[in-house]
Amino acid sequence: KRSCSTTVPSASHVMRRGFSSESSPERKVAVLGAAGGIGQPLALLMKLNPLVSKLSLYDIAGTPGVAADISHINTRSEVAGFMGEDQLGQALEGSDIVIIPAGVPRKPGMTRDDLFNINAGIVKSLCTAISKYCPNALVNMISNPVNSTVPIAAEIFKKAGTYDEKKLFGVTTLDVVRAKTFYAGKAKVNVAGVNVPVVGGHAGITILPLFSQATPRANLADEEIKALTKRTQDGGTEVVEAKAGKGSATLSMAYAGAIFADACLKGLNGVPDVVECSFVQSTVTELPFFASKVRLGKNGVEEVLGLGPLSDYEQQGLEALKPELKSSIEKGIKFANQS
Ligand code: NAD
Ligand code: LMR
Repeated sequence: KRSCSTTVPSASHVMRRGFSSESSPERKVAVLGAAGGIGQPLALLMKLNPLVSKLSLYDIAGTPGVAADISHINTRSEVAGFMGEDQLGQALEGSDIVIIPAGVPRKPGMTRDDLFNINAGIVKSLCTAISKYCPNALVNMISNPVNSTVPIAAEIFKKAGTYDEKKLFGVTTLDVVRAKTFYAGKAKVNVAGVNVPVVGGHAGITILPLFSQATPRANLADEEIKALTKRTQDGGTEVVEAKAGKGSATLSMAYAGAIFADACLKGLNGVPDVVECSFVQSTVTELPFFASKVRLGKNGVEEVLGLGPLSDYEQQGLEALKPELKSSIEKGIKFANQS
């Protein structure tokens, strides 16, 4: 048990820091795929988050070592490792947030959709367990292809009678992280103050960064915007090629996953105006799922925000991405209902 603090934090102190660990409620976060390339650094970053009181690390192999290692870090959360399907229920029980980076990553020459055959089945079985053991948890889906795995999760939850569209999120934060980095470099502005919404989905041209809404504003030429857009869309492939067969983004993804989970925790804890982009059930376009800015709250999604004004280039990008995103969503729905 942590020792009691003798000083009561002032209101302004709490406002400044969000919620201090002293005042923040108990929150259990489970990471499924915790011994993997993303899972390990993500588990580390969640162990550093003072909003987490219990950290549950699940994988089919390797979790006892990862959990023992991380558990020695002197931060708030209690860490427990779980390995194999018979421990999955225990890993999930009581979770407020379940983060899923379980599944195979790409190798050079593959698309994210090439991962469907293996990862769809993994996501299906994990979501079946979530609907049984922690049906009220917020689910942060990282496993690719996100454009299909999120619809799979929704269908599995629907079949189990536990679906709440406010609680299912495709994690697209890495696209935002990349767009911010690349924009700051090109615009020569301090990256710490940069904001760029990224909408659509999470694969190739379905990733649509809205640089016309980027802040601070910079007068970039059309060609520069096109190059930034393409680099953001191909960011995952850039890493896959650089890793040359050893997987895809893990460290930047762990960072992005930790940012998104932290936003979910803040929302659950009642911090106002927490907004992140995410791939969620949506009426922003005619597609049933779409990534856009989302306001997070005590029940998960509080409000799905609209796209705002788009440049002609972005409007064209939006129309161009819809057929691919639609078919990836339909593929996920079909898989969940036929198997
Ligand atoms: P990895 O192979 O290093 O790790 C995956 C882990 O999942 C392994 O430890 C494996 O044992 C585990 N696993 C497999 N089946 C499981 C099951 N049924 N239950 C629990 N764990 C299981 O891969 P990685 O690099 O960590 O990538 C994981 C996934 O994340 C891939 O699908 C990848 O494409 C995706 N990804 C998504 C984003 C994004 O932006 N959303 C970014 C990067 C990677
Ligand atoms: C990414 O964007 O880095 C991930 O989706 C992994 C990949 O396959 O590109």
